[in-house]
Amino acid sequence: MQNFPSVFESIKDLNKGHIDGLLKLAGKFKGFAHDWQGLPIPFIKRPIIATSFLENSTRTKHSFAIAIKNLGATYIDFNADTSSLKKGESLEETLHTLHCQGVDLCIIRTNISQEMAQFKEKPPVRIINGGDGTHQHPTQALLDLFTMMEIGLDLEGKTISIIGDTAHSRVCHSLLDLLPQFGAKIILCGPTECLPSEEEMKSYPGVVLSTDVDEAISQSDLLYLLRIQKERHKGREVNYYETYPEKYGVSVERLERLGKKIPVFHPGPANVGVEISKDLMLSPFYFGYEQVHNSIFMRMAIIQAVLQNTDKKLGIQFAGRTIKDLA
Ligand code: CP
Repeated sequence: MQNFPSVFESIKDLNKGHIDGLLKLAGKFKGFAHDWQGLPIPFIKRPIIATSFLENSTRTKHSFAIAIKNLGATYIDFNADTSSLKKGESLEETLHTLHCQGVDLCIIRTNISQEMAQFKEKPPVRIINGGDGTHQHPTQALLDLFTMMEIGLDLEGKTISIIGDTAHSRVCHSLLDLLPQFGAKIILCGPTECLPSEEEMKSYPGVVLSTDVDEAISQSDLLYLLRIQKERHKGREVNYYETYPEKYGVSVERLERLGKKIPVFHPGPANVGVEISKDLMLSPFYFGYEQVHNSIFMRMAIIQAVLQNTDKKLGIQFAGRTIKDLA
C-alpha cells in the first residue's frame, strides 16, 4: 500500500486506495485463520510492536495483541500505570524512549482527543490510534466496514442508523468519515443531549439527526448501537439514563413490532438492558461477535500497512554519533 501514514490517527488519513487495500488484506488474512502455519512469513526482521493503553480496553487491546502475535512480530505490553508516565514523563518522551529501544510501532489509546495529532509532523515512532477521547477510533470503523461487507450488505444507497450517545462516541466519528464513502446514508438517533451540535453537523453533510428511534429503525437497513458514555460527559447530569431502555433501547420485541429483520452492530462494551436487550444479543440479528472476531484480521492488515511506511525518518536519529560530531 503506497504512502500509508506512519501515524494513523483518523479515517481522514486514508485515501480510498488505502481502505480498499486494507479490506482486501484483511480478507486474505481471514483466509489463513484456520491454518496460521500457511501464513507467508511477512517480515525479514521481526518487528517489535507495543500497545500503550492509557485508558481501559478489552476488545481493542487484546485483538491488537493477538494480531501482532499472528503476524509473527514481538509484542510488548507497555503498562502505563507502572511506567515513568506516572512520574511526569511526557507521552512524546515515552515514545522516543520506546523507539530508541527498538520498538517499530506503538498502538496507543488515550482519553485525550487528538493527542496523537502532535506526532504527525515528526513521528517519534509509527503510531496507530486505538481510540482517542471522543475523536476517532479508526480501526474499529474499518473492522465494522469489513464485517458489513462480509455479511452481504452493499452499502450503496443503504441507510444505517447509529443509535445512542453519538455526540461523545469516537467510533461514531470514524464511521461518519468512512461509511458515506461507500454510499451509505446515516441517521444519528438518540436523546437530544446525545446528538452532535448543529455546528458539528456542518462537517457531515447529508447526515440526518433524529430523536425518534422507531422512525429511524423503520428507515434502516442496519442498526449500529452505542452505549451512553457517562465518563465523557464531563460533569453534566445524564438525566435521560433511567428512561433510556424504554425510549431508545433496542430489543427483539421492538424490531418485531416494527417488522424489521435487520442486522444489529455494537462496538462494545455494551450496557446490556440499557441500549440493547439480552435477548437481542442472543438473537440471529446481533453481529457484535462477528465484529470482535473480524477485528483480528483487520488489525493484522492495518499493522502490516503501517509497518510498510518508510517515507519518514522516525524518532531520534542517534546511530553512530561520537564526540567528534560535537566539535
Ligand atoms: N470497541 C472497543 O473499543 O472496545 P474496548 O474499549 O473494549 O477496546
